[in-house]
This record gives sequence, C-alpha cells and structure tokens, in this order.
Amino acid sequence: MPKDYERMEWSNRSERADLRSLCDLSRRRVLQGSTVAALVSLGLAPASAVSSSPLLGFRGVPPSTADAVVVPEGYVAQVIARWGEPVGLVGNMPPWRPDASHSADDQAAQLGMHHDGLHFFPLDGRSDRGLLVMNHEYTDEGLLHPDGMANWSAEKVRKSQAAHGISVVEVAMRDGRWQLVRPSRYARRLTVVSPFTLRGPAAGHPMMRTAADPAGLTVRGTLNNCAAGLTPWGTYLSGEENFIGYFAAPERLDAHQRRWGLGANWGYRWHEFDERFDAARHPHEPNRFGWIVEVDPFDPQSTPVKRTALGRAAHEGATVAVTRDGRAVVYSGEDARFEYLYKFVSRDAIRPGGAKANAELLDHGILYVARFDADGRGRWLPLVHGRAPLTPAHGFADQGQVLIQARQASDALQATPMDRPEWVAVNPATREVFCSLTNNTRRGTEGHPGVDAAHPRARNSMGHIIRWREEGDFDGETFTWDVFLLAGDPANARAEAQGNLRGDAFANPDGLWVDARGVLWIQTDMSASVMGRGEFARLGHNQMLACDPATGEVRRFLTGPRGAEITGATMTPDGTTMFVNIQHPGEPENDRTDPAEPTKHSRWPDGGRPRSATVAVRRRDGGLVGA
Ligand code: FEO
Ligand code: CA
Ligand code: CA
Repeated sequence: MPKDYERMEWSNRSERADLRSLCDLSRRRVLQGSTVAALVSLGLAPASAVSSSPLLGFRGVPPSTADAVVVPEGYVAQVIARWGEPVGLVGNMPPWRPDASHSADDQAAQLGMHHDGLHFFPLDGRSDRGLLVMNHEYTDEGLLHPDGMANWSAEKVRKSQAAHGISVVEVAMRDGRWQLVRPSRYARRLTVVSPFTLRGPAAGHPMMRTAADPAGLTVRGTLNNCAAGLTPWGTYLSGEENFIGYFAAPERLDAHQRRWGLGANWGYRWHEFDERFDAARHPHEPNRFGWIVEVDPFDPQSTPVKRTALGRAAHEGATVAVTRDGRAVVYSGEDARFEYLYKFVSRDAIRPGGAKANAELLDHGILYVARFDADGRGRWLPLVHGRAPLTPAHGFADQGQVLIQARQASDALQATPMDRPEWVAVNPATREVFCSLTNNTRRGTEGHPGVDAAHPRARNSMGHIIRWREEGDFDGETFTWDVFLLAGDPANARAEAQGNLRGDAFANPDGLWVDARGVLWIQTDMSASVMGRGEFARLGHNQMLACDPATGEVRRFLTGPRGAEITGATMTPDGTTMFVNIQHPGEPENDRTDPAEPTKHSRWPDGGRPRSATVAVRRRDGGLVGA
C-alpha cells in the first residue's frame, strides 16, 4: 500500500479502544513478564549468538543500497513479467512502450502495475510449465502516464483502473530460462471494470445495492489486491486491501463511513470520470469492496467471485489451512492500524473435483475475529448474527450486515486491535500459524491504545511476528500464542527499535510464506519515507529473509532495488524455482513519481522507467531454493 505512515488508514477510534489503553496501564507489569517468558521459552538469544540451521543452506547477503536484486552466491535471479508486457491474450498483445504511452485498452491486455501476492499453479503437475497468477495492488500515476496526472481525463482513469487487479500468465522454462508463453489460452486480466459475482450472506443485501446493480449481486472490479492465497481445490484468493482511499467522500460522513475511513483521499481522482467512485452519489459502492475474491485460473471464462462469508475488511490476503476432517479454514489480517485478525471455518468438507465441485464451499461457515489474552491464550469470537451483542438491539439487522460491518461487529465483540496484521502463513506439519504485524507507530502514544501482550512495544516502528497454535484442530475456538520475533536493529538506541532477532536484522515484516521444507520466508515493507535513515539506517533496502521456525534463526536471502517492496513468494512443485515480486521500484517518499523524472530513483530492471516485475530465483546447480 502507499507506504507513507501518516496517510496509512486509522479508523478505529472507538472509546473502547481508549479504555483499553487505560486498562493496559494496570496490566503492563503482567504483560511484560509474559512477553519475556515467551521469548525465553522460544530460546531467542541476542543477535550475536547465531548458530547454523540445517534448513538454511545458503550464505546470507548483506544489507544493500544497490539498485538491483541481489541473491546469494550460487543463485541467479531472472526478471520476467514486467508491468506493461502483454499477458498473451490471443490476438491482443500490445507491446510495452518505454515512455508509458500505451493506451488504456493496451494496459487492459498487459500486466498491471505494482505486483503483489502471487502463486504458481503447475500445468499437469510440471515444474517447468504453469500459470503465474498475481495481484497488482495500486498504481503510481506519475509513472503510468507520460505526463502524470496533468490533463486528467477519462482515458487516464480507464488506464489507471486497467493497471489494477489481477493477471494470469502462462510461464515455461526453456533452455534454463523462464519465459511467458504468448499467446496462451489461460492468459487473463481482471481489472476495476471486470464483473465479479457476489456470493454468501451479504450478496443481494440492501447495503450492497446500487443504481447500476439494483440486485446487489454483481460488482464491477476488484481493487487494491494485496496478498495471495491458494485453495486446496486449485483456485486463487486475493485480498481487497485499502480500497477506501479510492472513493470521494460526501461532506458529512455517517458513523459507518467514518468507521471505514471514508475521506482518506489518496488522490486517484477516478470519481471525476467514473461516478461510482463518488460515495456522495453512490454511498453503497464502497460496501462492494473489501472482500476476499476467488479466481479459477484454469477457466478464463469463469466469473470470479467475492466471498462475503469471509467478511469485509481491508483484507491483506487469505491463507487456507485444512482441518483433519477436510474443512477449509481461511485466515486473513486486516492491514490497518488497530484493526483485526479474522478466521473463517467452512461448514462443509472440501470435495474432490476441483474448483467446480467446491464452488460454494466458501459461502457457508462461521467467521471469527481474534482476541489475544495476556496469559498467552486467545479466543476466536464468532461474528454470528443473533448472538449477543450482534443483535438488532445493537444495530445489526442480519448476518449480511454483520459481514459488511465486520469492523463494527469486531468492535462490539472486543476483539484485539492489532499493529497492522498482514500476511498469515501456516505450517501444516507443525500446525503453527504466523502473522506479520508490520508496524504501528501510534501504539502506546497519547490518545491511542497502549501496549498489550500481543503488541508489547510502544511506537512500534519495526514490527513483529506473532505465532499461535489452535487448541484441537484448525477450527478451534481457542489457541495459545507467543510473540515469535520482534524485528529491529540491535544497534538502535531506542530499546523498542532494537528487536530480538537471532541472525540478520530487518524491519517491517509483511509477506510471509512457509515452503514445503518448513522454511518461513519473511518479506519486508519499509516505507520509502523511512528507508535508509534513523532507526532504519543500517537495514538497506527492502529484503527477503529465510527463517528456521524451530530455532528462530533469520538469514537474509534477497535484497531489492531502490524504493521497492519485496512481496509474494511461491515455488515450483520441485522446489527449484522461487518466484518473488518486486513492487514499486523507484517509489519516491510520500508522493507519486515526478513524470518529468521517471528514472530519478530507480532504473530497475532494464535501465529505463522502473517497472514492477517478477523474479525467478534459482540455484545455479538446480538444487532446492534455500537449502
Ligand atoms: Fe498491501 Fe498490507 O500490504
Ligand atoms: Ca505492504
Ligand atoms: Ca503487503
């Protein structure tokens, strides 16, 4: 997301949150004790006491300020799937133009901007051919158009919308190099104008109906797609994250609009030529975003679905675990300050037969929100209409409203407000679940919730990773948890910014993924406004690290170009190629690119205009990545 901390959404200003901070003062001593105990139980030692892990077989790379992707000795990183390349639609493959002068229609047939979560779907189980499906989270209008936002027009709005969404590309390895297969019958773009079907309890709800869609059953577009998830039945899940800043706000906001941050205008100016992004005229349109979307990448004719049973949130992503009796459990963090962590448990078991056989699986089940208690235990609180306090007397008319207003429902249930919960990763072998909490510099400051057991640092600039195990199975309503690691740099003066890492220093964990060997891959999202200065001065650019969850050891695996975020990780089934996305190389601090100087901050990957792209990382000897 736009990485400026000050523009980051902060809508949870409920009185209860402030009361919580007062309560925290009396609990603080207990909490500090429990946090220390948790760290001791994990065996986390100071950074100097690094041991070698049998899981991590590569030599770590140092922090970098090079305008390049750097990987360990013995590895190569090959760039594919750049923003603006044709995805490979049959008969519609407009070439990239280095001055970004391609049209909106061209962009709708090309890879979008600002690549984020991705997943590799093998074709016929192969490790040399498959589909890469990826999100395009947002755009930099200064880079997207030759003259930036000057001469703002309907065409520019359409191009901006076409650069958002999701891409499906076919990739194959030929002569040791990955290439896009073009044309491909699988190639596809989903953008802000593609039709999506609404399913689940909020489909057709009065709050979902608009003038253009009086039935409330079909939404045009997906927006701000952030992290990626895979279902066991072979579909792709994508979180609609910080969607609210795309909407122009009415002069007076109602309580619902305030709670969802309407008015946090990010300057996209779409509403000037596409009136559905004017919430004064179309107040229900924002309710139609903030969902988990499901895409069947193997059927380009299929209509993707917004799964309302999973709740509405600024969803980072969706990560699936499976109970012993075959039901799907979907974890999702909401990346905003003091928002929540969710889990959905399907009613039915996964059926054999792939996407078609499981087309309704995510429409029936129970959504929960997390409460982390100071004693190292936690509880999943059901967002079920009719159970107190989610009743008409408290303003919840039905289950659809509970899901559309999941934030208000979570407030009422007194869920734990968190430090921007982002990706969730599950290790099915150990049944551990991890969630990255990127940062929250308002934690513990005046007028905001104080520290608590799960968020032990005030002014949490560095972020941390929390870990839990469900009691019973993945559908359990209680869990035990600990703080897995606190990110930071031990050289910092401020104690809260030092962290407790065993191994290489980093800040702002965002992307998380557990590979088949059990390595926890961590990707960072330091904002351009902090990178390279102050408490972040020694950490270099954003990076990707490998962590052995058994020992807590962290080793830096990859560093990115200037201004870029590293996000999204997936491997071929044989574990010999890892695909990673490089998002927004050259992003300036707190602003869009100056169209007069598009290469001012980065020329990655090709020496010209910076372009988000995928890198395929392999070992020169063809071995397992990371081993
Ligand atoms: Fe889109 Fe929370 O990163
Ligand atoms: Ca991020
Ligand atoms: Ca992210």
